[in-house]
Amino acid sequence: MSARILVTRHVFPEAIAILEQAGEVQYNDTSAGLSPEELRAAAADKQAIVCQLTDKIDAALMDAASDLKVIANVAVGFDNIDIPAATERGILVTNTPGVLTDTTADLAFTLLMSASRRISEADRFLRSGQWHQWEIDMFTGHDIYGHTLGILGMGRIGHGMAQRARGFDMRVIYHDVNRATPAQEAEWGVEYVDRETLFREADFLSIHVPLNEHTRHAVGRDEFALMKETAVVVNTSRGPVVDETALVEALTNGRIASAGLDVFEDEPAVHPGLLALENVVLVPHIGSASIKTRTRMCTMAAENAAAMLCGQRPPNPVNPEILDK
Ligand code: DGY
Repeated sequence: MSARILVTRHVFPEAIAILEQAGEVQYNDTSAGLSPEELRAAAADKQAIVCQLTDKIDAALMDAASDLKVIANVAVGFDNIDIPAATERGILVTNTPGVLTDTTADLAFTLLMSASRRISEADRFLRSGQWHQWEIDMFTGHDIYGHTLGILGMGRIGHGMAQRARGFDMRVIYHDVNRATPAQEAEWGVEYVDRETLFREADFLSIHVPLNEHTRHAVGRDEFALMKETAVVVNTSRGPVVDETALVEALTNGRIASAGLDVFEDEPAVHPGLLALENVVLVPHIGSASIKTRTRMCTMAAENAAAMLCGQRPPNPVNPEILDK
């Protein structure tokens, strides 16, 4: 009997073609997705689920799907999946690392530049017919070149930011629970600093840590209190890493200068305080949204699921202990 596969939401069609080689596909070809009850019912007889960061895959769903072998997330982040529950049940989880690194770093740098040079604000001003004359101090922002970029989380995307910063002659400091080797630091042109120094010295803080119990609200009131009044905060990781209420306060009272945000605490809802502010650039979680990258993310997830169903080793396991048992 051929394997049964659930694709929870719309994906690029190349992924469906791969999955159809591996089994019988139930494709929910909508962007709205399924309610938790519908998802549980649809997963019940499946061996593979191809899901997205907007699908909550919890222990109850896994218990409802007794044949489930693999959950292939179309994302590098996997905080939407209960990994310990999957591991306990012998279910492999896979993700899509690597392919989205540069696309996401490009977006993070775009947000950094847009926020510091007040691009969205200036665009709104011009379109609303308010531009009547050139003025010496109109939309003056903060320089990027020669300034200090602070990177919280020196993984692949953090490293991508460091590479981009070199072109702007920036000093790059970083903090991570895992320090790079001295040789890597020298090659990348980055300097390791303790957490407090990172917040104190960064002109630009770019956040690149995964969301987990240690990083939830890792940047909040205490961290904003350490930062320069001219600092710009960029978040392209996960919304809950930043305490959004504290961020609104910091942006409102001038504790920091501005922010560029791709991710939010309660997506797709955005804190009304952020919507009301001029000094923040807001985009709807589009870090990896180039056609090439999103297509590759979909095909990677499909390849991971197909490999597991065909008895091969999936290239991107999150809990490889399942395979090594
Ligand atoms: C991810 O992959 O985790 C992003 O948030 C979406 O590209």
